Amino acid sequence: MRRISRLFAIPLCLVAVARADDAQKIACGNDSQFQHGAVVCVSQVASEVGAESLKRGGTAIDAAIATAFALAVTYPAAGNIGGGGYMLIVPAGRGESTVIDFREVAPAAATRDMFVDPSARTAHRRVGVPGTVRGLALAHSRHGRLAWRELILPAVKLARDGFALDAAVAGELNKVLGRSDREQFAELHRVYARPDTVAWQPGDRLVQPELARVLEIIANKGPDGFYQGEVAQLIASEMERGGGLVTTNDLEAYQPIARKPLRSTYRDCEILSVPPSSSGGTTLALALNMLENFEPNPSARWSATSQHRMAECMRRAYRERAAYLGDPATTDIPAELMEKSYARRLAGSIDPAKATPSEQLAGELPVTNESEHTTHVSVMDGDGTAVSMTYTLEQAFGSRVVVRGGGFLLNDEMNDFNWLPGVTNNKGRIGTLPNQIAPGKRMLSSMCPVVVRRDGRTLLVSGSPGGRTIVNTVLCVLVNVIDYRMDARAAVDAPRLHHAWFPDEIRIEPSLAKQHPMAVDELRRLGHKILPSRESQGDAHTLAVDPRSRAITAVPDHRVSGGAAGH
Ligand code: DON
Repeated sequence: MRRISRLFAIPLCLVAVARADDAQKIACGNDSQFQHGAVVCVSQVASEVGAESLKRGGTAIDAAIATAFALAVTYPAAGNIGGGGYMLIVPAGRGESTVIDFREVAPAAATRDMFVDPSARTAHRRVGVPGTVRGLALAHSRHGRLAWRELILPAVKLARDGFALDAAVAGELNKVLGRSDREQFAELHRVYARPDTVAWQPGDRLVQPELARVLEIIANKGPDGFYQGEVAQLIASEMERGGGLVTTNDLEAYQPIARKPLRSTYRDCEILSVPPSSSGGTTLALALNMLENFEPNPSARWSATSQHRMAECMRRAYRERAAYLGDPATTDIPAELMEKSYARRLAGSIDPAKATPSEQLAGELPVTNESEHTTHVSVMDGDGTAVSMTYTLEQAFGSRVVVRGGGFLLNDEMNDFNWLPGVTNNKGRIGTLPNQIAPGKRMLSSMCPVVVRRDGRTLLVSGSPGGRTIVNTVLCVLVNVIDYRMDARAAVDAPRLHHAWFPDEIRIEPSLAKQHPMAVDELRRLGHKILPSRESQGDAHTLAVDPRSRAITAVPDHRVSGGAAGH
């Protein structure tokens, strides 16, 4: 680990914060409550599949795996076998927590400059080597109780017999088909269009026979059924057809990594999240460590002061992300980033009376002035083990490349590398060294599955999709619960904001301006550029555990869709 020499000159005010009440009620009456285990995610059917494995005596890990395979069928925009992600596993009590990093990697033939030429940015070339199946298998080999095959068979059935589309999935399918050229994305249209080619309606059944067959192969042969043999060959042939780089050797070589979770604290809570190759945990810890230096006013969650502080902390945390974070196998990440004193220095440069222009924070990073789906599953079992898992194809439906003969989508995760070496601009493009492309390297993610504990007991399991907004969505939910004593439903429903250093603007969910217009005006007066978020920010399916009764309240985020199940 290397040290950072940059210091911040402006001193700051330090404030101690009162310890939160142990018995804080973070569950709300209207959401489903479960005593022995629960699953919440974007798809009600997939949550039910996960909950069924809990009822059969499976662990939270078994349930997360069964849910993930079901989501690959029922939520094709992001559920996947052709993508990657992170599973955070936190047992009750003193058991050892783990992160399974099943992030995709760049194929062996990838080069640093492979996307400099815009004409080279084709759908097939954006595909990274998928990690999901070996990642889930690693989690199962270490923490599973039920048979692997049993966890996949419900997904096989959903794919083979079909399932009823909800309004969200019907809408997403219509949207992706509408924006995808029929010739270039012929397989996408063949697999996902309604047989009579008219628009999908809620309640219509989507049947995926080829996907059912591939899932059955994985159920019978284990992960090698995906990474070797017929399925690997189908992927490689698809790549060759479209000029993609992933080969059978890349697939054979792919390995997930078990890592130690990133541990930080905020006020009286312990925050467990994911270390690099995701930037999620580190960026979240940086922002929270900065925020800890200011005392929250419990009655002023929506004041300009509170929003200003949050945006300034986000701005600074994302600047550090751009400067230092990348695949730890190739990047020396400074250990100080996680130190409270480091965040205190950063927080010291926040001016309470005005926004700091992002350029002012660039430091040694050259910034030029040049003139944009994922899904989260939260699980808890009867033993108190929590699983927080976020996985993705990158954009909605990934590369939109469906493997011919396989009926499944491939990711476009190569998007997450810094494509233009050296080009960091005020529009938000990052060109810094730590996340430049290299063969076999993991591209930097923002995924941020979290588990929050107090006094050694799990309080909250959360996470979100949303690309670079992910960390800020999680930050908003955590701050709502820990600082502003909201119950989990209110914390999830509350309006969100996002600042990512560049572009130098705050994106707010429209409800923030509607509910708190004066605070938003005041933020403008402080010098912030405020814009409405392009769509709602994130989709944070959350579990909250009552500190006394240990009842689990499942809080689906209704921004997209969502459902919970348990017992
Ligand atoms: O790993 C990441 O950070 C991104 N590929 C996630 C993309 C995403 O969340 C898109 N979803 N809304």
